[in-house]
Amino acid sequence: MKTKKILPFMILASLLGSGVNAGDCCDGCSVPSRSFGELADGRTAMIYTLTNKSGMKAEITNYGGVVVNLMVPDRDGKLADVALGFDKVSDYEKKVYYFGSLIGRYGNRIANGTFELDGVTYKLPLNNEPGGIPCSLHGGFKGFHTVLWDAEPLVAEDGTQGLKLSYVSKDGEEGYPGNLTVTVHYWLDAANALRISYEASTDKATPVNLTNHSYFNLAGEGSPTINDHELMLKASAFTPVNAGLIPTGEIAPVEGTPFDFRTPHPIGERVDADHPQIALGGGYDHNWVLDNQDGSMALAARVKHAATGRVMEVWTMEPGIQFYGGNFLDASDLSSAKSGKPYPKRSGFCLETQHYPDSPNQPAFPSTILRPGEAYKTTTEYRFSAE
Ligand code: BGC
Repeated sequence: MKTKKILPFMILASLLGSGVNAGDCCDGCSVPSRSFGELADGRTAMIYTLTNKSGMKAEITNYGGVVVNLMVPDRDGKLADVALGFDKVSDYEKKVYYFGSLIGRYGNRIANGTFELDGVTYKLPLNNEPGGIPCSLHGGFKGFHTVLWDAEPLVAEDGTQGLKLSYVSKDGEEGYPGNLTVTVHYWLDAANALRISYEASTDKATPVNLTNHSYFNLAGEGSPTINDHELMLKASAFTPVNAGLIPTGEIAPVEGTPFDFRTPHPIGERVDADHPQIALGGGYDHNWVLDNQDGSMALAARVKHAATGRVMEVWTMEPGIQFYGGNFLDASDLSSAKSGKPYPKRSGFCLETQHYPDSPNQPAFPSTILRPGEAYKTTTEYRFSAE
């Protein structure tokens, strides 16, 4: 996408200009930003407000690249914030649910926090232990969700507003090899799509699996359940897990199981079904093997909330998607989030586009290894509409 740099005089011009507010979206307008508060180490996190011509709004902070607020119209044009999260950056530092965060260097779990690459064994921090079995989750304690990214607001020639986030993850950071240079672009287009494009390059072979960990509730965050949302997943298979939520290596057909979302089903319909994989996941917390495996942009998921008419489609180039039904959300710890309402278990869902969990230890899975000279490039879009 062609972009213009926003220079201070443009911001001033847009503010002084003919009745244009900083929040309005038109060619030449700026992306407003404000402080999102101080981090524990004294640095200031910023928050950037992307708007489009249809009235949708995405507020993104450079702390963890978190999508903090996502205002989406219902069938009557009424906006609601469909993204779970906090209104203080300090809460994001203290409470690690990965609300809205960018995830890296490796999304989801790596068994025992260990992998071997080109004859070298690497050890990662063990920051998670489902079923008492330790693993490394979402890039470790200081994964990309904890990074204060360099941020550059952007406006495309057609007025589309975006945010470029950059970070260099040093060789050895959280145990991973190679200096990894990462760029993420968020764009909010006129058709109500939030596009996330990820790029990375390295100077040593390393696993890379980047995603975004937004939790959605299409009735509005703070609504008590997602069980009434209808979900479709374009996936004929999934990767069953063991007690540590690590894939067993099997690619299992969804046919005849509660994991078959090839036609839409309410999330709550089978979430407590008597199925060993549901028991292990405490509900849905699995990687689906998307039907599209050729790296092109394709529809992966569609979620509909009938009462408001809000629809969210997920389009991606990735081969997998983690449908996580918010089983670990805990109202006692999340008694007062953004809206002042608690976030109980299963009040938000994630659809994390990704390569499969534990791929560095699973040679039969599509490779996640990036080598020097190669370009990691992948795009996911969350497309909103109402019917
Ligand atoms: C994982 C869950 C985990 C959650 C963390 C998801 O991607 O699949 O098992 O609890 O992230 O909030």
